[in-house]
Parts: sequence; structure tokens; C-alpha cells
Amino acid sequence: MEKEIKVAIAGLGNCASSLIQGIFYYHNVNENSPLVPGLMHNVISGYKISDIKIVSAFDIDKRKVGKDVSEAIFAPPNCTKVFKKDIPHLGVTVKMGPVLDGVAEHMKDFPEEKRFVVADEKPVDVVEELKKSGAEILLNYMPVGSEKATRFYAESALKAGCAFINCMPVFIASNSEWARKFEEHNLPIIGDDIKSQVGATIIHRTLTRLFEKRGTKLEHSYQLNVGGNTDFLNMLSRARLKSKKISKTESVESQLSERLSYDDLHIGPADYVPWLKDQKICFLRIEGRKFGDVPFNIELRLSVEDSPNSAGCVIDAIRLAKLALDRKIGGPLISASSYLMKSPPQQYPDEEARKMVEEFIQNKRER
Ligand SMILES: NC(=O)c1ccc[n+]([C@@H]2O[C@H](COP(=O)([O-])OP(=O)(O)OC[C@H]3O[C@@H](n4cnc5c(N)ncnc54)[C@H](O)[C@@H]3O)[C@@H](O)[C@H]2O)c1
Repeated sequence: MEKEIKVAIAGLGNCASSLIQGIFYYHNVNENSPLVPGLMHNVISGYKISDIKIVSAFDIDKRKVGKDVSEAIFAPPNCTKVFKKDIPHLGVTVKMGPVLDGVAEHMKDFPEEKRFVVADEKPVDVVEELKKSGAEILLNYMPVGSEKATRFYAESALKAGCAFINCMPVFIASNSEWARKFEEHNLPIIGDDIKSQVGATIIHRTLTRLFEKRGTKLEHSYQLNVGGNTDFLNMLSRARLKSKKISKTESVESQLSERLSYDDLHIGPADYVPWLKDQKICFLRIEGRKFGDVPFNIELRLSVEDSPNSAGCVIDAIRLAKLALDRKIGGPLISASSYLMKSPPQQYPDEEARKMVEEFIQNKRER
């Protein structure tokens, strides 16, 4: 019998576009194919990439709501690189979600093709839609700062009996009250804030750890990011950035035995540069002292297409959440969250987290 993982998505932006393109780009991959870049394994406990089926989707943008998912992922303001353009008609219509705090006020000052445009429709009953579609897992891709919308989708997952994967930095898996709710409903949760394959965070974590391991004294560091997608446009509002800043900063701090003060470790989105579209540029600097108190510094510039960078991690997260569902395990998945997310309930060094996930796959650890 064909295995299936039925997935619902809240927020059909650039990340969802890259994920769905990836599912079809790698449709024929099996255990004998060369390892797909950005995945742990081509097949995890029998689950292939092609076993992931999108069965339900929610958005609020007038150019996406009412369309088949296969068309909506290419609608503006999505601007990520198209690496798989022929996506078959999925027969899944994008439904109107409640807007809540999903759309930042300042977006209205920008041209329509660059920003969200709210559809003139009444929101559907999300829980009912999830149940009707048979979704087993709900993926949350709300814009940064969408505290209410994220809590709404987390609550909907609980009510509809879905596992939850929280790809953005509102604290759900890493919040003990929410974690308890998922435990009580015996539903798995992986979160919060998806890591990228090779992005600014992992480079920053690795370099700071390396310098510390080699005995240098770290003094200051910054990581400034610019990009031209709606994620960066949204983040022009500093009021929406609180959790994002904590998530990214803690992800680096957690690797240091001697923490830097927040004044000495500055991490954040620096600006919105429309022509960059989904390209993200990270400028990173680390300063410290070596033997003899002699100063050193390192500067690095990383340029990546932002959205495909995390899609492989999400494909792994989906299959790990499904394994937990199969094994009837609820609550935060500690191993998957610490390997795949910037703000997991517990932080581990990346190599250790990877080992823990391998043990989870082999059923040698519970979560
Ligand atoms: N690119 C990455 O690698 C990466 C890494 C970590 C975290 N993230 C986070 O993932 C999230 C999604 O990123 P993205 O680049 O796809 O963003 P995006 O701006 O392209 O997409 C967000 C989508 O959500 C929709 N939306 C807004 N409010 C909604 C609501 N109330 N209900 C349903 N839909 C709603 C928008 O219309 C849009 O389609 C962001 O929070 C981002 O910071 C991305």
C-alpha cells in the first residue's frame, strides 16, 4: 500500500512555494537515488518525498485565495526562484484564513505586487476544513510577528487532531504551556523557527563555537541580513521583530559557554532591498582576542536564495512528525526540534542534535 502524509499549509508564501516545488522536483527520488542536497535521508522509515501530499491550504491574499495550490504558489507577491514550474493541478483550493495580525500596517505604503493584498472574502472554518481534508500535519508559515494568527493555527491543529510544525518564530513548541497542550492531545509538535540548510544562523553558530573551542575570547559580533521578499518587507516593522530577534540571537548564544551580552551580539534584519527579491545577503563579523590579548576579526558575506534554503529541513520535519504520529507520541519532539529549528524547547550542538534524530528514526529514543 502506498504511504501518504497528508499535510495542510497556513501561509502560501515563498517558503511554501519552494517546499511544494521541491516535492515535485524530487518526485522520483528513492533510497537508491543520490542523496538530495539538504535532506537527512532520501527515505525516512519508508517515507519518500513523494509520499507528502498537500491536502489543504489557507492564505489571505486575493491573488491566492480561491486558486488551486499549484497556481497560488506562483502568484505575486511570491518572488522566489522557480526551479520546478510544471506542478500538476492538485485539486486543492486555497481557502481564506482569518487575517488577525498576519498583515503589517506599513505594507499598504508599498506597491501591490510587492506586498500582501487582503482578499475580500469571509474566513472559512479552519478546523472544519482541516478535518474534511483529512490533514494529519499543519505547517505554519505565518509572517514574523503574527502572534495571534500563529496561536490561532496552533489551536486549530489541536482541535482538528493535527500535528503542528511551526516554521516561524512565535514560541509554541518552546513555550511550556503550549507544549503541555500538545502533550495532552497526544499530538506531536516540531518548532520553533525553521533552520536553513546552510544559512546565516548555522554559519554564525559554527564559527562562534569554533573560535570558542580554539580558546579565543569573543568580544563582539553582528549578523546583518538584507533581502527583497515579503519576509523582509514585513520585518521593516521593528514592533514585529521581538521574537525573531530572540530566536536568532539565542540560537547563537546557546553555543557559547560564556554568553555575550545582547549589546555585544547584534543579530537582525537590517533592511528591505526590493530588487534582491528572494535573495538574502548576510554580513557577519566576529571580533575577539587571541594569545597575548592580540585582537582579530573575521568578516563574511553569504548570499543565498532564502526560501529553498529551508525547504529540505521542512521535508525532513514532515516525515519525522509523521513517524511520531505513527508511534502515537505527543508533545514537542525534542530531537527533531533541536536539529531543525532555531528555537527548540532544548538547544543542543548541531552534531549532537543530528545524532539524537538518527536515534529517534531508529526508535531508540522516544522523542
Ligand atoms: N526562508 C527561510 O528559510 C525561513 C527560515 C526561517 C523562518 N522563516 C519564516 O517562515 C515564515 C514564512 O516565510 P515566507 O518567506 O514564506 O513568507 P511570505 O511573506 O512569503 O509568506 C507568508 C504568507 O502568509 C500569508 N498570510 C498572512 N497572514 C495570514 C493569515 N492570517 N492566514 C493565512 N495566511 C496568511 C501571506 O499572504 C503569505 O502568502 C516567515 O515567518 C519567515 O520568517 C523562513
